This record gives sequence, structure tokens and C-alpha cells, in this order.
Amino acid sequence: MSKKLYIKTYGCQMNVYDSKKMADVLAPLGYAPTEEPDGADLMILNTCHIREKATEKVFSDLGRLRPIKEAKAEQGEKALIAVAGCVAQAEGDVITKRANYVDMVFGPQTYHLLPEMILQANGGERVINTDFPVESKFDLLPTGDIASQGPSAFLSIQEGCDKFCTFCVVPYTRGAEYSRPVQQIIDEARAMADQGTSEVILLGQNVNAYHGTHAGETWDLARLISALAEIGGITRIRYMTSHPRDMNDDLIAAHGDVAKLMPFLHLPVQSGSDRILELMNRKHTADHYRDIIARLRQRRTDIAFSSDFIAGFSGETEEDHQQTLQLIRDVGFAQCYSFKYSTRPGTPGAVMGGMLPEAIKDRRLQELQALLQEQQLAYNLAAVGQVMPVLFDRKGNRPGQLLGKTPYNTSLYVDAPERLFGQTVDVQITAAFQNGMRGEIVTTETTATRTAA
Ligand code: SAH
Ligand code: SF4
Ligand code: F3S
Repeated sequence: MSKKLYIKTYGCQMNVYDSKKMADVLAPLGYAPTEEPDGADLMILNTCHIREKATEKVFSDLGRLRPIKEAKAEQGEKALIAVAGCVAQAEGDVITKRANYVDMVFGPQTYHLLPEMILQANGGERVINTDFPVESKFDLLPTGDIASQGPSAFLSIQEGCDKFCTFCVVPYTRGAEYSRPVQQIIDEARAMADQGTSEVILLGQNVNAYHGTHAGETWDLARLISALAEIGGITRIRYMTSHPRDMNDDLIAAHGDVAKLMPFLHLPVQSGSDRILELMNRKHTADHYRDIIARLRQRRTDIAFSSDFIAGFSGETEEDHQQTLQLIRDVGFAQCYSFKYSTRPGTPGAVMGGMLPEAIKDRRLQELQALLQEQQLAYNLAAVGQVMPVLFDRKGNRPGQLLGKTPYNTSLYVDAPERLFGQTVDVQITAAFQNGMRGEIVTTETTATRTAA
């Protein structure tokens, strides 16, 4: 008999991937995914701890799941509520104390143990599993027998972080850096291609620190990308998230040499001030970052960049903030994410002096965002009139519409027949907005017009 599995995912792409893996692990036990929690037999919140209010959000969502569990109980059926992910890892004991109806709390390194944990919980035991186990979960998670993830899909190749930026919880919630062995990744990529995936997005908290083993040798990310580019069904490769310190020469060269490696890179810099970068323990300077960008542009002139910025880190002066704005102007980004600094318990940043008032953080964030949005809009507008290959990876909101991505990772929507879903098609960009573009499929007729013009 089929059971219903509801998973709500917060946070980064790694969590999105993990949620898919949990569904793969649970499929042989008869659990089928459902979009709504009502009536579900197992409800999992896959949580994120990166910025504040994360825990409060989890508790308010838990409050909504509780009546669903109670309604099931009234019918004499058992529904389980689980908290997974980074909040579970960081605050497992707080969760079970405040919400005693939660059946299971488990961290990101334990998903391969789900069948056992469910057995325990169904037996009436409260399951708390926030250990970092010695064995790698990746060795025990399915790689071949996986559900289709669509035309564009994530593949985790690396997890955890040893960088210890002073603002960040990730080294504490995900543990030490670990790279999956090469063969395991190649097998999974092949299985994904067989299931209809053409674009593989390689994931890791520090993906370019990848150092996996193969036949007694250690491979870096550039070598792995070259091997993945040999797989027939895979037409596009991307990777995220990278650290400037780990952009080695081979990886920069790969952007010029490997045609399937898409001309887009998300490379978080956080700040344009060397003093703040030092306080953040980023281990790179602003000029080091500018230099990486310049070298990548030499290899691949059309490459587009995106980044992450933190506004109002402790000790940040107006001068530091101006240097961040200057770095943004110097680089010119196609996309960006910016966040107001949020002190996280347990990180070195939490006990640093020089914390800024909210009003200053807010104002600086607004200034960063205004400039970044201006750049993003300008970038999108500059594409109007161009023709680009677009991979249609999502269905549109209305029938007859497909959503896709350009090589530069810009989203766009097009009126297109559904049979083109999953295909890569030449599209002429006809309009651009803040967060995306609109286009038309290039037919021989429009090509002819363009040539004539
Ligand atoms: N591993 C990636 C991403 C980590 S989290 C990296 O090294 O860049 C994603 C982004 O969240 C970070 O790049 C940072 O900009 C932001 N972030 C992390 N901790 C934060 C905090 N305490 N306050 C505000 N933003 C934060
Ligand atoms: Fe966090 Fe820094 Fe590691 Fe990125 S590199 S995950 S920001 S500690
Ligand atoms: Fe959040 Fe954990 Fe990802 S804290 S950003 S879900 S690694």
C-alpha cells in the first residue's frame, strides 16, 4: 500500500538535492511524494540554519503540521513528523523540548539511515540522530535507482566545509569537507542522463575544493568536469558554490576548454574591503577576487558572474562599505544575492565586537541591492535581440508556455509547444526584466529576417 510523503525544503540547493535523495531512499518502503501535507503519513521539514529566524520558521511550520498528525491519530492511523537538515543538526534538543509531538530529528549526514529511523519511530521511540557518522552516507544512498529529476538537476559531489568564515554556521551543521569518489559521481551522472537530465549542476558547500579519489589518484574539479563532459546525454555542466581560494588554474582553463561547461559562475566574495574579508576569515583579498574574474574573462570572454554579499558585518565602516560598492562596479555582475549580516550562535562572529545597529545594516543592504539590481537589469536588457540556445527545464504557469535557461543562467519564458520540454532550442530574446527575459523560438523565417537585416 502506498504511503504519502510530504517534504518541505528550505535553504540551499544542497537541501533540494538531499530532499530528492530522501524520497529515493523512501520509495522502496512504499512512500510516494505529495505536494500537500494534509493526509501525509510522513512529514519532513528539511531545514536551513544560515540566517536568524530560521528556527522560529520551523516552529511555526511544525505548528501547522501538528493538527494533521492529530487528525490521523483520530482515525487510528499514525503519521510521523520529522525535522531534518541544518536546524536539526544545530538545535536538535531545542526542537524536541519545545515540540514534543516531533517524532524524529536528524542531521544531514544521516539520511541513508531513514528506513531504520522510521522503524524506530513507528515503534513509538523518539528518534534523535545528529551524529556525524564515520561511514559516508553517499556510499549508502542510491545512485542508480533514482527518480527522474527533470532536464536540469543537481548532483552533490562534495559536502561540508573547512573554511570557517567567522559569520557562517555551515562547518558546524554539515561537518568537515568530504569529496565523493569519482566513479560514484560518474555513475550517478549516467543514471541521471538515462532519466532524461541534460544539465547537471554539481553541488557542494565548497564545490571547487573537490578532491575525489579515482584509481589511487586524486582528481580536482577541473578533471572531474572533463570526465563528466564525456557522458553522451549530458549537454550542460555547472557547479556551485565556489570559494575564491579554490579557483585553481586548471578550473579557470576549463572555462575556455570544455564546451559543455556553461559560461556562468557563482563566486561569492562577501565584501570588497580587505579589512572586513580578514575579519570574516575569508583568506582572500578584493584584488585576488578581481584577478580571478579577469583571468576567467580572458579564457571565456562572454562569461557571466554572480556573487553573494553580506551588508553590515561587525566592524564594517562606511569606507569598507564603499569599497564593496566599488568592487561591484569593477566586476559587473549578471546576478547577485545580498544579505544583511545576521549573528549566528556558536560562530566566532557572535562574540566579535563592533556589531552595527540594524538601521545601518538596512541602509547598506539597500544600497548594495540597488546597485546589484541595476547591473542585473542592464545585463538582461543587453541580451535583447540576441539568439541563444535555451534548455526548457520547467513548464510555464499557463499552457503553451515553457520556462528555460540561457547558457548564462538567465531564466526566460517562451510560447512553445510542450513537446519541446527538455530540449535545447534557439531562442531570440524579445524583452528583458529585472529577474528574467522573454523570447521567441527562432524559426527559419526569423533567422532569414535577421540575416537579411
Ligand atoms: N558555501 C558558500 C555559501 C554559504 S551560505 C560560500 O562559501 O560562499 C550562502 C551565503 O549566505 C553566503 O555566501 C553568505 O553571503 C550568506 N551568509 C552566510 N552566513 C550568513 C550570516 N550569518 N549572515 C548573513 N548572511 C550569511
Ligand atoms: Fe560558510 Fe565560508 Fe564555508 Fe562558505 S566557505 S560554507 S561561507 S564557512
Ligand atoms: Fe542552510 Fe544548511 Fe544549506 S544552513 S544554506 S541548508 S548548508
